[in-house]
Amino acid sequence: MYNILVIGSGGREHCLAWKLSQSAKCGKLYIAAGNAGSSQEGENISIDTSDFSRIEDFVDKAGIDYIIVGPEAPLVAGIYDHFRSHSVKVLGPSAEAAKLEGSKAFANDFMAEFNIPTAGYLTVGPDSIEQGYDFIDAQDETIVLKADGLAAGKGVLILNDKEEAKRELNEMLSGKFGDASKTVVLEEFLDGIEFSVFVLTDGKDYVLLPEAKDYKRIGEGDTGLNTGGMGAVSPVNFADEQMMSKVRSRIIEPTMKGISERGMEYKGFIFLGLINVGGDPYVIEYNCRLGDPETQVILPRLDTDLVELVEAVFSGDLASKETASIPQSAATVVLVSGGYPGSYPKGKEISLPLAEAESIIFHAGTQKDESGKVITSGGGRVLAISSLAIDHHEAVKKSLNMAAKVHFDGMYYRKDIGFDL
Ligand code: AMP
Ligand code: GLY
Repeated sequence: MYNILVIGSGGREHCLAWKLSQSAKCGKLYIAAGNAGSSQEGENISIDTSDFSRIEDFVDKAGIDYIIVGPEAPLVAGIYDHFRSHSVKVLGPSAEAAKLEGSKAFANDFMAEFNIPTAGYLTVGPDSIEQGYDFIDAQDETIVLKADGLAAGKGVLILNDKEEAKRELNEMLSGKFGDASKTVVLEEFLDGIEFSVFVLTDGKDYVLLPEAKDYKRIGEGDTGLNTGGMGAVSPVNFADEQMMSKVRSRIIEPTMKGISERGMEYKGFIFLGLINVGGDPYVIEYNCRLGDPETQVILPRLDTDLVELVEAVFSGDLASKETASIPQSAATVVLVSGGYPGSYPKGKEISLPLAEAESIIFHAGTQKDESGKVITSGGGRVLAISSLAIDHHEAVKKSLNMAAKVHFDGMYYRKDIGFDL
């Protein structure tokens, strides 16, 4: 039995806690800070998760064996490194390896070195603006500009106008996204359909988890502003055996080779944001964690004990492990506060229906008030309703039926998750 601390407070972390708590090997389970849903799976604890020494105090007191990190920020800030000589094991990459997500320039250089298919790119700093203009002029029509560092999902611009692209390049370099855009990566535009592949690695071997597709735009038909994710489905119909075999040989295996040749310490999840361009997979981005809301469709399909997989990562036994997924499709529909991804009110009371077979309500931005009522809080995404069914259409239908029974003021959700598959 292992005592486990999950770091994070969104739908992904509720789902991780839900899956971990199903294992016979899960001892005491804590979530920092968690939400009203995760408190049904384990004990929420309130600590500032950016303060690693406070986490260490708790880990020592509670006898934690594993820390499972949901979001990228603690990983990029070095939570793995903080606990390197401690007995607790942190599932995640070292800060150096987390640069695969934390720096787009680092990730593109890594992919170039190990021949991993991605967009043509140029890294631009204040001293190389002229080369940046030349790169922009050389593109067909559409140009992608990316802030090098973490910019809360807002640091990517896709523009069809070269003059505008040059202006934006200047603004980004002058601090439009703060320090994150002091360096900018220009990329050629890849035209295709995106999907996400997830692996769990010990830095040497890996196991594959179910793949997923998420829907980032606020509006139906993939319109409007970008969000953290409004829904997801798994499996993805075009990620068939032929495509996945290309993903393994062209992307995952060279990525593992790169991690090992560079001596990067990586014991955790890798989230490969991919795009299918005419039947060939290219990398759009690396993330060093699971996705939200992708987790809420991949873990319900994962038919393997997650604690045993984590155990294998740290015992060096991952090569002997295989993962299985249930054949049913999963879909999740995210219910958000009206106004998101702009500003929105918090503290609205949520009325929740009783759970039904094959639908699970994962909480994201929720908490309990003094009287025990569940209210909206946090990041704008309030609930993620996941369902399993024979195909993703039926799964979405089940989630929508459940969503219709939920109520809070200003509630909004997309009804077309999976529309393009
Ligand atoms: P990223 O933060 O790198 O994942 O970029 C955010 C979104 O921008 C991605 O999910 C894609 O939809 C889009 N994107 C990023 N890079 C490219 C590219 N080179 N070509 C086409 N679309 C891209
Ligand atoms: N849903 C996208 C992400 O977690 O990055």
